[in-house]
Amino acid sequence: MAGIAKGAAEQALMEAARRVLPGGGFGNFAPDIVVAEGQGGHVRDVSGNDYIDYLLGSGPMFIGHNHPAVTAAVLAQIPRGTTFFANSEPGIRLAEAIVDAVACADQVRFVSSGSEADAYAMRLARAVSGRPKIVKFEGGYHGMSDWGMMSLAPKRLANFPEAVPDSAGIPDAIRNEVLVAPFNDTEAAVRLIEARAQEIGGVILEPFQRLIPPKHGFLAAIREVTARLGIPLIFDEVVTGFRFAYGGAQEHYGVTPDICTLGKIIGGGFPLAAVAGRAEMMKHFDRAAVAEDGFLMQVGTLSGNPVAAAAGLATLEVLREPGAYEGVFATGRSLMDGLTGLIHEAGIPAQVVGEAVMFDVVYADGDMRDYRAICRQDTAMQKHVNGVLRARGILKGESKYYLSTAHTAEDVAQTLDAFRAAMASLPATRRVA
Ligand SMILES: Cc1ncc(COP(=O)(O)O)c(C=O)c1O
Repeated sequence: MAGIAKGAAEQALMEAARRVLPGGGFGNFAPDIVVAEGQGGHVRDVSGNDYIDYLLGSGPMFIGHNHPAVTAAVLAQIPRGTTFFANSEPGIRLAEAIVDAVACADQVRFVSSGSEADAYAMRLARAVSGRPKIVKFEGGYHGMSDWGMMSLAPKRLANFPEAVPDSAGIPDAIRNEVLVAPFNDTEAAVRLIEARAQEIGGVILEPFQRLIPPKHGFLAAIREVTARLGIPLIFDEVVTGFRFAYGGAQEHYGVTPDICTLGKIIGGGFPLAAVAGRAEMMKHFDRAAVAEDGFLMQVGTLSGNPVAAAAGLATLEVLREPGAYEGVFATGRSLMDGLTGLIHEAGIPAQVVGEAVMFDVVYADGDMRDYRAICRQDTAMQKHVNGVLRARGILKGESKYYLSTAHTAEDVAQTLDAFRAAMASLPATRRVA
């Protein structure tokens, strides 16, 4: 089997990391790799090993690392200054591009991370509606705030709508402010929203939850009930924005929320995210436009940072080129189809779940409709396969392939070879056919 050798320099860095970083890392990816550089759809570690990169920085690098247009835009901005706190042209132009692209976006407020964007979006919904509680869906990720960290990955499966905190340190009172519904269960979600409408300040969801596509009619039903009851609906498009289509998941699925959050791609690999929404809601960020008790104060040192905005603008320009989405969707589709074929050949209980730009193999049979279904997968097999892939130069998240416009047919072929080897390495007892 191909192997990845780690040299002394990378090992020394990992040793230093273990000393000075809790858990030996930044809290994100497993600290068993120190990346030295990324080019296109590949990264290289400090020891010189090359990997096909399906991690893509957890999603921002949708057009690949060191894209010449993005690098040029950043290098043009840096000598003119890197942060001002005051308005600057790149941020204004980026806001215009977002408003042009995203159906719900009349106006944009920039922040620095998706977590921040989600926390402010939920606060905005409460400010607009004047009601306290947030409805979210089990397994949905809405950043790291106290409100976001409810029933993201609950170890204990509670009865809906009880929320289970995902982290130590969250005040117990917050759990009572979050109502949790099952994703893709239209009837249960609508019933909950109707029954508790007087308390519900907003509904937040990932239109494509982690790996799980929405069932036909689910998003439309949540749109209908929230519109009918005057409850602001937030789509968390931190991942899907400018990825599922230029207009995001709301374009892809044809359902328009009141507010959305964006991140990842719009920062072009720099720290930038946004809340975007209908003008009558976004006005709550403007002290002059609302009564004092409706004003949502929001300030951030790096908000609308010109370097990040220049990178984001350049990225969106590349994505507007004809064929950009068709290309990445075709590459992703060929990888999905190839993986599905190899799973069938191997006869294991597994399936490819997701959309062509973002998917993974789930090691379970059945309808992967929600968090509880995904939880049934064979995580030992998942870990084993991911380990074999890594040893063969495939870098991916534990449960996701992110595709980029920079990935090639050769990358797909190499990935399928590695997956074939992973299937061959499974003990015969793990196969069902
Ligand atoms: C759907 C979703 N929302 C919010 C976030 C948080 O974004 P950030 O990591 O920029 O804080 C993420 C991050 O992966 C995400 O996937």
